[in-house]
Amino acid sequence: MKLIIVENYEEASVEASKVMLEVVKNNPAANLGLATGSTPIRMYELMIEDHKENGTSYKDIKSFNLDEYFGLEASHPQSYHYFMNKHLFSGIDIKLENVHVPNGAGEIQESCDDYNKLLAENPIDIQLLGIGSNGHIGFNEPGTSFDSVTHMIELKESTRQDNARLFFDGKIDDVPTHAITMGISNIMQAKKVLLVACGENKAEPIKVLVEGQKTTDVPASALQDHSDVVVIVDKAAASLL
Ligand code: GLP
Repeated sequence: MKLIIVENYEEASVEASKVMLEVVKNNPAANLGLATGSTPIRMYELMIEDHKENGTSYKDIKSFNLDEYFGLEASHPQSYHYFMNKHLFSGIDIKLENVHVPNGAGEIQESCDDYNKLLAENPIDIQLLGIGSNGHIGFNEPGTSFDSVTHMIELKESTRQDNARLFFDGKIDDVPTHAITMGISNIMQAKKVLLVACGENKAEPIKVLVEGQKTTDVPASALQDHSDVVVIVDKAAASLL
């Protein structure tokens, strides 16, 4: 595991964009595993800037997002699909047919099976991850099996509370109770993993990821077994190391 500790969110975003862009520049037809949450927003802005200024193209890139809220159509302003259109896809030249986000509004088992098939056919070159304050990756909450593939999960109250700030009026009642997420096994199959974490509320799960024992109580700790992981943290997230 390569650990990079930087001063703040801006520096973490700059370092993370360098790792992503290296993959895209080396392989213009790469499969990118992408993430939502507030952490990657600045990194996505930097990717858009690079696309506009340096002409890095995404016309042959395919993207595969980690997760989606259950019950929200792609057009719903609080869906992760909408988030990705707003924060990245609308600013680069990726083709819409190459964009993949789990279908939160379809028949559950069919949506999960379809996504697993898609991932099996399109190995991911780099998987971007944030981390939940409880150590979740994607929406793989504590207790999720390391063997899991794409599945529906009931969100922990703490996760819905954490994510409520991203909803219109910040109320937990607006946050869906369930989500569809890539499983930990899908994530582990990516050739490279980039995890970015900023802020004091990420310090505990980062300590377990970097220094602790592998445990399903902290799903991110599964990454200890991956052979190519880059972890970028700001000082606050690194404060317990
Ligand atoms: C959500 C997403 C995760 C993300 C996490 C952290 O739960 N499903 O993929 O890593 O939020 O979000 P943030 O970056 O806003 O702290």
